[in-house]
Amino acid sequence: MGRRTLGKIRHDFDLRNHYFELKALPAPLGDEPFEKRQPLEVEVGSGKGLFIHTAAAEQPTHNFLGIEIASNYAKFAAAQLAKHELSNAAMVYGDGIELFANHLTSGQVKTVHVYFPDPWWKRRHRKRRIMNEKFLQLVESRLKIGGKLHFWTDVQEYFDLSLKLIADVTTFEGPIGVPEKHPDHDFDYRTHFERRMRQHNEPIYRSEFKKVA
Ligand SMILES: C[S@@+](CC[C@H](N)C(=O)[O-])C[C@H]1O[C@@H](n2cnc3c(N)ncnc32)[C@H](O)[C@@H]1O
Repeated sequence: MGRRTLGKIRHDFDLRNHYFELKALPAPLGDEPFEKRQPLEVEVGSGKGLFIHTAAAEQPTHNFLGIEIASNYAKFAAAQLAKHELSNAAMVYGDGIELFANHLTSGQVKTVHVYFPDPWWKRRHRKRRIMNEKFLQLVESRLKIGGKLHFWTDVQEYFDLSLKLIADVTTFEGPIGVPEKHPDHDFDYRTHFERRMRQHNEPIYRSEFKKVA
């Protein structure tokens, strides 16, 4: 299923505390860009930012960092965070692999979220998939012991290959199954893509992995 056009980005929000360019952030990141030192959750490919904004509102004692390679989506998501005055969440415009490789350090991250990553359908483009060996090994290194990776997709082939790759190149425990939750309201979904897929009765493949050693 293709992408819908992005709604208007509100320009009346001050994005200074919620929108950052990766190349302008320190390496290593330390506690930036957050006010408080709290457990860090990172979402790669936040899109319009439904997850980062609802998760940050529900869990004010954690920091949430979203990274998004499309600047208009990163700004759109950042505007939602600014609108809701969430001081524990921020969006970064840049490449998730670079964030993990150069800015995050070993054992720094409590949870990594990857929801509905681009499937890159054409065989010659498959190497662009985010769930690749390098990224998974970086995720394993940056997670704390006991930390988790959440991976959901609507593409069964991508799901199956990723689970096999995770088993081959990491020591994660899993996959741990994730039950489908009945939505209590129209935006009670993990992400915008989950909402769309479920509204179209498309299957979703959900998994969780735990770093145990
Ligand atoms: C299919 S969308 C899903 C968005 C959101 N996770 C959701 O479920 O609604 C995938 C997103 O990942 C972003 N993306 C792709 N490669 C990326 C990368 N290397 N680093 C950060 N974001 C990336 C894309 O720009 C896109 O917004």
